[in-house]
Amino acid sequence: MSANKDLRLVDLDEEGVDRAFRESVLKGLGESQKAIPARWLYDDAGSQLFEDITAVPEYYPTRAETEILESRDKEFAEAIGPGRAVIEFGSGSSVKTPLLLRAIEPAAYVPLDISGDFLRASAEELGKKFPGLPVYPVEADFMRRVELPQAVTDMPHLGFFPGSTIGNMVPRTAVDLLRTMRETLGEGSKLLIGLDLVKDRSVLEAAYDDAGGVTAEFNLNLARRINRELGGTIPVDQLIHAARWNDDFARIEMHLVARSDLEFEVGGQRFTMRKGETIHTENSHKFTRRSGATLLLAGGWTPVARWLDKKDRFSLILAEASIPRSAP
Ligand code: AVJ
Repeated sequence: MSANKDLRLVDLDEEGVDRAFRESVLKGLGESQKAIPARWLYDDAGSQLFEDITAVPEYYPTRAETEILESRDKEFAEAIGPGRAVIEFGSGSSVKTPLLLRAIEPAAYVPLDISGDFLRASAEELGKKFPGLPVYPVEADFMRRVELPQAVTDMPHLGFFPGSTIGNMVPRTAVDLLRTMRETLGEGSKLLIGLDLVKDRSVLEAAYDDAGGVTAEFNLNLARRINRELGGTIPVDQLIHAARWNDDFARIEMHLVARSDLEFEVGGQRFTMRKGETIHTENSHKFTRRSGATLLLAGGWTPVARWLDKKDRFSLILAEASIPRSAP
């Protein structure tokens, strides 16, 4: 293995197949409730489709969060203070970042992302907008503890995790991530995190099943990706996108529903689906003020401020790394 290959975060086999993707799909299709982790929705086509989703009329989270960042700049400056290194978790191509950076006078910006190419391109873009702001992109899987660049270790840190991306994780995984972030950022750190709010079921289901069918394409792209990358024979035209509110777990679930009995192959293995059976492809948890606080506290973060958009659809929470106390 070359030194370069050792550094890769994606492990490809001799045929250029992403090993983790194949393993994850074969395992998930073998379960009684078929399920494939949501992270696999984001290949190039899927990432583009998600960008398209953020512009559809029914999908409010991106607009709501952007509205908060645009309108509350003074309050962010006051609550966060100047001179922090901003560490963004899963920076992607975020358009929200400049809004935050403009508000708070940061000392440095450290975007963390698993996709190196994307990361470097957007870091460069951002550098142009903020001449004089040191930018240190780090190619990393933020689900694990990340070694921050030497240049920022002695600065106070602000983690930034917008988009309610944490809602894609089941609470157990979300808590693990929050604890890992606390380790990455250290004592005395703050965290600004986006949490989408529980609301009317019809609003939520529409946001995840838009009339224009963009979210359906986003979901179906996963089946296409499996066919393309894993030599699958899934009859994609026999699958229907569904977005369902699970009230017990306070989450929107995306499923691919079989319209008829199906038989297909993936990676040389046979799978069957009965008509109406589903592949569960994503969870998007929604929060209340209290459930959000409980999640953050469980992960070692104490909420200290909270901002909502004008229509009370979405929240940005500022939290501080909790100091463990012995009582009560
Ligand atoms: C990227 C996690 C914020 O859960 O709302 C959008 C992904 N899925 N429509 C979300 C998504 C379907 C999105 N996040």
